[in-house]
Amino acid sequence: MKRVALVPGDGIGPEVISSAVRVLREAGFDGEFVEFDIGYGRWSRDGKAITDDDIEGMKECDCTLFGAITTPPDPDYRSVLIRIRKELDLYANIRPLRSSRIDAIIVRENTEGLYSGLEVLGDEEARTVRVITRRGSQRIAEVACRIASDRRHLTIIHKANVLKSDVLFLRTCREVAERYGIRYDEMLVDAAAYNLVVRPERFDVMVTTNLFGDILSDEGAGIVGSLGLCASANLGDRWALFEPIHGSAPDIAGKGIANPVGAIRSAAMMLEWFGEKGMAQLIEHAVDSALSKGLKTPDLGGSCTTSGFTDAVIDEMKRTAAG
Ligand code: NAI
Ligand code: MG
Repeated sequence: MKRVALVPGDGIGPEVISSAVRVLREAGFDGEFVEFDIGYGRWSRDGKAITDDDIEGMKECDCTLFGAITTPPDPDYRSVLIRIRKELDLYANIRPLRSSRIDAIIVRENTEGLYSGLEVLGDEEARTVRVITRRGSQRIAEVACRIASDRRHLTIIHKANVLKSDVLFLRTCREVAERYGIRYDEMLVDAAAYNLVVRPERFDVMVTTNLFGDILSDEGAGIVGSLGLCASANLGDRWALFEPIHGSAPDIAGKGIANPVGAIRSAAMMLEWFGEKGMAQLIEHAVDSALSKGLKTPDLGGSCTTSGFTDAVIDEMKRTAAG
């Protein structure tokens, strides 16, 4: 039986995750959910946002479905998600961007770069070491090339004109793209940030380092129309974690108006990873139909509630199943 670690988290996390679980059940997913209490709520009770046991428990599951967590206000706090990504070696962060203006996928390296964790914070000076390895660059480029082989082309996004670490990243990505026979081009990250706004349609698959991918994917979410619409997969060779790209949104938490689409699309990506393509497509199609009928949560200018929108998605799934 498939086992999914469920991390609802904080703020709107539990609200959107419960929508995703309802939709998964409606699609016929019959795996087991193992719930984990991780995040700010946990930290405010026990002083720890995540424990070694949680990591072990997550490793006993096939993959994780993650809401969002609020960052605790503690200068010594280390990001829970970064820890999970490192310990489960979830090295590829896949972020599809899809709307009438764009159809692209950001493939972000997820374990090194400026998120190496090698840093010191002093009063007068602080340093963070940007680590790029040949192996890290190679494996992320391979993931990007496998995705690009079914699509139009690959853009390698870097800052090799300034950063020596990106010279290695760029060289390695080129080698891999040539080995895979993928049509590719190269772009400096600042130009990519500009072009993403001005000519979003020119992009297809984009591969980049950790921080650049983090920033460009939120920018991409703005092009799509809302952070609340975007999903992601964090993939390793053994485990995976699926999460909407937004945070815990404390400004709207508890109001029942969070957009559940990012979480629902993340659940569909999970089904695809499990090889349940039919169920994944049923969900994707139902979300698109509900949106195309003008049903929208307030972030998109509508007045649907989280549960109202989820009901509409479930109705669309029933309609497809009946038709
Ligand atoms: P955020 O993504 O939570 O919110 C940014 C803005 O987008 C807010 O105005 C929010 O209301 C809106 N928004 C986000 N998701 C939405 C949704 N599904 N539906 C409708 N509106 C939505 O980012 P913010 O405010 O910078 O961070 C809040 C907390 O979340 C912080 O503690 C931050 O550290 C944490 N965070 C956690 C992440 C994670 O667990 N993966 C990712 C990003 C932030
Ligand atoms: Mg981010």
